[in-house]
Amino acid sequence: TRNIEAFRPVYHFTPAYGWMNDPNGMVYKDGEYHLFYQHNPYGSMWGNMNWGHAVSKDLVNWEHLPVAIAPDALGSIFSGSCVVDKDNTAGFGAGALVAFYTSAGDRQVQSMAYSLDNGRTFIKYARNPILTSTIRDFRDPKVFWHEPSRKWVMILAAGQEMRIYSSSDLKEWAMESRFGDGQGAHGGVWECPDLIELPIEGTELKKWVLICNINPGGPFGGSATQYFVGNFDGKKFINESPNVNKWMDWGKDHYATVTWSNALEGRHIALAWMSNWQYANDVPTKQYRSANSVPRDLSLYTYKGGTYLKSTPSPELLKLRGEQIKKRSFKVDRTYNVDKLMTDNSGAYEIEMTIKNKNAEIIGFQLFNSKGEEVDVTYNLVEKSFSIDRTKSGITSFSKEFPAVTTAPLRNDKEMTLRLFVDKSSIEAFGDGGRFVMTNLIFPSEPYNRISFYAKGGSYNVTSFTTYKLGLK
Ligand code: FRU
Repeated sequence: TRNIEAFRPVYHFTPAYGWMNDPNGMVYKDGEYHLFYQHNPYGSMWGNMNWGHAVSKDLVNWEHLPVAIAPDALGSIFSGSCVVDKDNTAGFGAGALVAFYTSAGDRQVQSMAYSLDNGRTFIKYARNPILTSTIRDFRDPKVFWHEPSRKWVMILAAGQEMRIYSSSDLKEWAMESRFGDGQGAHGGVWECPDLIELPIEGTELKKWVLICNINPGGPFGGSATQYFVGNFDGKKFINESPNVNKWMDWGKDHYATVTWSNALEGRHIALAWMSNWQYANDVPTKQYRSANSVPRDLSLYTYKGGTYLKSTPSPELLKLRGEQIKKRSFKVDRTYNVDKLMTDNSGAYEIEMTIKNKNAEIIGFQLFNSKGEEVDVTYNLVEKSFSIDRTKSGITSFSKEFPAVTTAPLRNDKEMTLRLFVDKSSIEAFGDGGRFVMTNLIFPSEPYNRISFYAKGGSYNVTSFTTYKLGLK
């Protein structure tokens, strides 16, 4: 019989037991990255939402800790964020870890709790809730310190818009502005916002990015992460390109993305829930459900006058690399097979390659296993697109929404770099140093261990090709 844990990832975070959705309250403090998460401790489907908790010193090795915040009379504990209150603005104590979350009962209202022992125990604020409304979908507070105005800012999802509030003590909040009308995609509810200032590569400039998760209404159905680039003065966010839709990831399984607060060296590290509400409760795992994406460092790049998000695999992931197999440069004019990616393939590896196109119209490869299951990766140089086809990837029948081809626009078609992170039940593709990203779940009945390249309409060279076994040390 099949190992019921066969799909549990090696190097992606999963709950030890039970259900997980959104990453919550991510904050760095005293040498630890905290990860809280939407958690059902009693079963592996959504319900009874608590904040689960884990800590890491390096973003890859995680230690599970007990549930941090549990339901109370105001309701269950929905998504939110944490800040470190260095200057004791709230009066809970200097350096208190302050959590903001949605209490989901009859209504959705915002609450807070604080910890004086680095998140090991939380004390709920006695005068919760701190923010109420009559709007039905009113949730997922993200709080951060805005230095120029010397105020705390909260961004909150309200139906299909974001609301921005400010505060000087984390307890009293005043509404400053609303954002969303006529902006971006509106195929579903807006959830899990974030608002961060990022550097534009190759310049001294910075711009603000508003991260907006939307469900449904993603480019391939269901959940996805869109974003807006612009300016923020502490009160109001102005989108600089209201007529352009921007997606942070072009796969089907990248949702509820938010960033770590208080990370060192100005880093903005993002983490997504690697699933989609279309089928999250139905994926073929048992003991637990859902993993997070690998952590990604965010920055901005410009292309044809527009400014876009770049998501680079966090450098800590290099620590996972073990045994490597490097191939010499090869040319593909019809087909080229790599018969064995790895000798001892447990399904957790990274493939890093550089492709130099000569005159091909299609550059493609299949990753496959001995069961005939495969994932097809295609660069279409005519349509200028990159796509991943998982329709034949393994178990797909648990939802009619699962078999899919996902496509990203290709902005560079001369020399392409690609890093593929494969881990038991997921594949994350980072193209051109993270200028496009595609995250998709897969459920193969054994690891893919072969790769077959092909060319149409011309030829190309694979000038570097390395497979790394990935694992925790
Ligand atoms: C997003 C979301 C949030 C909410 C949480 C509930 O996936 O719907 O808006 O706070 O999940 O678990």
